[in-house]
Amino acid sequence: MAKDSVTITHNGTGKSFEYALKQGTIGPPAVDITALYRDAGIFTYDPGFMATASCHSAITYIDGEQGILLYRGYPIEQLATKASFLEVAYLLMHGDLPNEVRLDEFEHVISRHTMLNENLKNFLAGFHYDAHPMAILCGVVGSLSAFYHDSLDVHDADHRLISARRLIAKVPTIAAAAYKHNVGEPIMYPRNDLRYCANFLHMMFATPCEDYEPSLIAEKALNLLFILHADHEQNASTSTVRLAGSSGANPFACIAAGIASLWGPAHGGANEAVLDMLEEIGDVGNAPKYMDKAKDKDDPFRLMGFGHRVYKNYDPRAKIIREVCHQVLNELADANNPMFDLALKLEEIALSDDYFVERRLYPNVDFYSGIIYQALGIPRNMFTVMFAVARTVGWVSHWMEMMGDPNNRIGRPRQIYHGPPTRDYLPFSQRSG
Ligand code: SDX
Repeated sequence: MAKDSVTITHNGTGKSFEYALKQGTIGPPAVDITALYRDAGIFTYDPGFMATASCHSAITYIDGEQGILLYRGYPIEQLATKASFLEVAYLLMHGDLPNEVRLDEFEHVISRHTMLNENLKNFLAGFHYDAHPMAILCGVVGSLSAFYHDSLDVHDADHRLISARRLIAKVPTIAAAAYKHNVGEPIMYPRNDLRYCANFLHMMFATPCEDYEPSLIAEKALNLLFILHADHEQNASTSTVRLAGSSGANPFACIAAGIASLWGPAHGGANEAVLDMLEEIGDVGNAPKYMDKAKDKDDPFRLMGFGHRVYKNYDPRAKIIREVCHQVLNELADANNPMFDLALKLEEIALSDDYFVERRLYPNVDFYSGIIYQALGIPRNMFTVMFAVARTVGWVSHWMEMMGDPNNRIGRPRQIYHGPPTRDYLPFSQRSG
């Protein structure tokens, strides 16, 4: 038996089958079971895909035990403090950091695609005034194939690249327009003279009535938060984008599917849910009661922003955001932020509580991010939109990687069936109930 293989023995038939172990650059090997059903007539069962590698990828690596996150091999801690968001976007899309010429070209291309087709304003105007911005984002992004259908051949690399760039450029414009729709202000057009994050702040907070210059503090904070949220391996929303894309669906529809998946409170919707939770807890004195609720199996309450499918150590992104929280709140003269103080206290209590320690539940990326967004004046219902703006880069990178793979096949999982065995149709006279 080869050392780089696994033998599976069916004890019922006594037959054994050998399967190769596939090893990546770093990380655990994976047993290739593509022939298992053909050999042994059995499926594997892994609900939630706890131990299932769905694809090959060279984009992001996570070590959940060590709390390590690499984008194309670069540690998140270095990128977060040294790179610009578009520099990281280029890295994730193309595999390496751009030189200055390439970065200038990329920034120029992205900025020239930030405007929306003017007819999209009619679409946006049709939403109820208090529509959740994620509902608007999901709907409008899904509609983009109706406007930008000149490059939808998903098997053409140039078409894939222009659609990816359009998405990175236009999602912030749509996100800001959703906010303006909510607050009843006129949509602000993008400005080509502003950097990506400053342009987003302009589209969010500028009005036609007076000059507005985005604060450098806010721009720097957004740049860091967008980098930290840009990609995260095969998370639920990225896997949704890949599954949708595997059928050959157009990229705008695939990213809309990713936005829908991200919206769930167990995923990207957690950042909004954290602030709702902190507001509900209100005071540190109430923390013990809510900790008990979080530990009570019969109580649906969970400590939002805590726990992670992969990280069984501190989420490296949460560590960085917590540090930035201090800095941003001090710089925004919001140093006595009761929500932040409460979050810090909840973390301190949880990390010394056996329930959380035994289950290795630590703060994740969503635990502190909303506190910074709130300090920047971004409303709570826009927090997951912020996550989606950043994660669009990771989604399009994975979509490009998958569609560029000649071995890509439609994703089609199987099941364990518990329904009724074969039975004959019954006339009304013989039906019960
Ligand atoms: C993101 O996958 C990614 O990479 C996602 C993400 C990304 O960048 O794309 O990192 C972004 O989605 C971060 C996660 C944001 N979600 C939340 O903060 C919501 C709260 N967290 C939980 O819902 C939960 O921790 C998940 C969904 C994040 C992970 O769920 P798992 O891996 O399925 O773990 P589980 O639900 O099986 O929990 C294991 C145990 C259970 O207890 P037991 O049944 O073993 O007794 O831990 C408990 C859970 O009840 N538990 C919690 C808890 N999280 C897990 N108990 C209280 N509060 C929590 N937050």
